[in-house]
Amino acid sequence: MRFNGFSRRRFAKIAGWSALAISSKAAEGVANAATKIPKSASAAFPGGFLWGTATSAYQIEGAVDEDGRGVSIWDRFVHLKGKIVDQSTADVANDHYHRYKEDVGLIRELGARAYRFSVAWPRVFPDGTGAPNPKGLDFYNRLVDELLANGIEPFATLYHWDLPQALQDRFGGWRSRDTAKAFADYAGYVTERISDRVKSIFTINECARLVQAGFGMAIDAPGLSLPQKEINQVRHHVALGHGLAVQAVRAHARRGTKVGPAENIDVCIPAIETPANVRAAEIATRELNAGYLTAILEGKYTEAFLAYAGANAPTFTPEDLKAISSPIDFVGLNVYQPNQYVIAGENGHPFALLPFAATYPHMDSSWLRIAPEALYWAPRHVAKLWNVKSIYITENGTSAADQVTENGKIYDIDRIMFLRNYLTQLHRATSEGVPVRGYFLWSLMDNFEWSDGYEKRFGLYHVDFKTQRRTPKLSASFYQEVIRQNAVV
Ligand code: FCB
Repeated sequence: MRFNGFSRRRFAKIAGWSALAISSKAAEGVANAATKIPKSASAAFPGGFLWGTATSAYQIEGAVDEDGRGVSIWDRFVHLKGKIVDQSTADVANDHYHRYKEDVGLIRELGARAYRFSVAWPRVFPDGTGAPNPKGLDFYNRLVDELLANGIEPFATLYHWDLPQALQDRFGGWRSRDTAKAFADYAGYVTERISDRVKSIFTINECARLVQAGFGMAIDAPGLSLPQKEINQVRHHVALGHGLAVQAVRAHARRGTKVGPAENIDVCIPAIETPANVRAAEIATRELNAGYLTAILEGKYTEAFLAYAGANAPTFTPEDLKAISSPIDFVGLNVYQPNQYVIAGENGHPFALLPFAATYPHMDSSWLRIAPEALYWAPRHVAKLWNVKSIYITENGTSAADQVTENGKIYDIDRIMFLRNYLTQLHRATSEGVPVRGYFLWSLMDNFEWSDGYEKRFGLYHVDFKTQRRTPKLSASFYQEVIRQNAVV
């Protein structure tokens, strides 16, 4: 950027200051002035709003061979040639299995009151079914106790993509309804043992992604590229797995335990906010999510979904749909990007989906298109369409090409920009009465980002994967302040 022919750097030099070298006196003055500006009460999120962070087992734990853990489909997948961009594995990852106490300390430092983690199925049932491995669950008992001792409420996800390889080998994993039944057994077993302390349970993380990327595009484990009919059948089995798990949680839980999905719905944004476009975006939300969230909340596959699928529609029974739509206590939404911009349709079409221009901006991950308003519309559509009374944002955050400065700081101002704008839209939702109860920032710390290996960093804490050193980024201070003020800062 040039100011009348001067480069920004040169301009700063001439003016006698540089961005990182403002005198501490001046900085103090700014801080004092800022704290004096009164914040209107309406800027606050609702009282009791739960601020948290999120991770998943496979992305941080490491210790893949320890204490009787079985092999997961991701263990197998990462060791196939060419699947992970930097040829890395998650064999060690963040070594969280051994460092969980330090990591709980990081959450406490933020002032966050909630933490969403996932339980690794192959730790608990190394063969997917059959004999449990008590040492596997012991780890989560230790983690939960440590969280509670630090005043942090644990939210457990039962399935964040690390299916026991044994189930893949035995009957093709989610290609078989036997996996849905095995998942329910595992869900009941875990719930019985943790629900004295864990009061909120998510069944499956991101059905949409695991089906598309794992069984259609071959970029996630198990790395398949199936015909559409089989993809639809896999999705049906995952939906069934969710429903049977909800029933198993109910059957085994202590009183007061709540359960629901954590889904990355296709987020549909009205391109221009007119009543007709908003209605079109609502209809699009219902139809584009018909294979999972709509089925869960309505107990049926929509007519349009079945007509569109035609001969590729999944095979199912009325009992399946009943199980899939077992009542839930909340809906978890992972919201990152706008899947669709929508306007009202023409010629009898209820909606039209608009193409993305090549110049549409994105963050460090090319899929992560920027649309802060996604965090307004996603929960608003879900509340409006299905009268859902309790919503959690189970994931939101961004990758950034973080640079460590010479003095070891990470000034991730692009992540702060992203979060501030998304949270502003979330605040719009809560202030209009959309019942969002909490927000889990993805992620607590940099971790193994699936097929992107360690190249995409999503953390509030930077991780040096050679030394396992965790360092707070500037965004950690930002989030700390958001939590402290219960407001966008
Ligand atoms: C979500 C996943 C999570 C992480 C973020 C960036 O789709 O649930 O594990 O990879 O994306």
